[in-house]
Amino acid sequence: MVLDLNVTVITSKHFIYNFCITYISVLISRNFIDNMERAIQQIAQTMERQLDLELEKLDALDSGDLEAIRQQRLNEMKQRAKQKQEWLANGHGEYTEIDGEKEFFTVCNKSENLVCHFYRHDSPRCRIFDMHLKILAKKHVETRFVKMDAEKAPFLTGRLKIRVIPTLALVKANKTKDFVVGFTDLGNRDDFSTEMLEWRIARSEVIEYSGDILTPPTEGKKKSVHIQSKKAIRGRQDSDSDLSD
Ligand SMILES: *[C@@H]1O[C@H](CO)[C@@H](O)[C@H](O)[C@H]1NC(C)=O
Ligand SMILES: *[C@@H]1O[C@H](CO)[C@@H](O)[C@H](O)[C@H]1NC(C)=O
Repeated sequence: MVLDLNVTVITSKHFIYNFCITYISVLISRNFIDNMERAIQQIAQTMERQLDLELEKLDALDSGDLEAIRQQRLNEMKQRAKQKQEWLANGHGEYTEIDGEKEFFTVCNKSENLVCHFYRHDSPRCRIFDMHLKILAKKHVETRFVKMDAEKAPFLTGRLKIRVIPTLALVKANKTKDFVVGFTDLGNRDDFSTEMLEWRIARSEVIEYSGDILTPPTEGKKKSVHIQSKKAIRGRQDSDSDLSD
């Protein structure tokens, strides 16, 4: 009996001790949580105040500065639209034939950027240039794209020292900046891509270009043997169909 009682006493003591410890920890954590809550509240209030300040700043901006920024953007857009209208009125946006050497100078005078294809009727390679230039004329309205019968332009071809047909003269602000002579710069093949020609013209800064000016667009493909063999087959087919055109 005595032993049993002792056990009970020890047990209850132990229980009370445990209970107290638990109660104190609860109190402590309560306090801790309260403190945390207060801290979070304070942070939230600070953030709210900062947000209010930002909003006030935005409100202030909205009335004056924001309107000015919007107006400036609008003016830029209008300016660009007007510029585009002028280009289109000047014959940009399509690939056309110019008639005679006199017109060449008129065209140079009117357009900051000009690509002039010197062609001959009996050259199938000229038709390949025609195909690509037609596409590029539509894409690059900032530049005028024209073609000119080389046989009807002895003065110009002599003056510009054009000996190979086809040759593209790349003209910027009344000055011939560069020439694309045959397909040599285009991988020396008939089935070069429009992108390749676009890149070549862009290198002379006669069109606006957003791609990588240092790397030709087909550089990666050229290294692949598989694609190369496919291209060779396609190239033959292309020149066949061009000849029969
Ligand atoms: C260029 O155009 C302007 C007007 O747009 C004209 O006065 C001038 O004579 C032209 N110059 C040439 C070389 O055609
Ligand atoms: C070409 O030069 C003429 C004057 O010789 C000039 O009036 C015209 O603006 C120039 N054109 C371009 C596109 O720079």
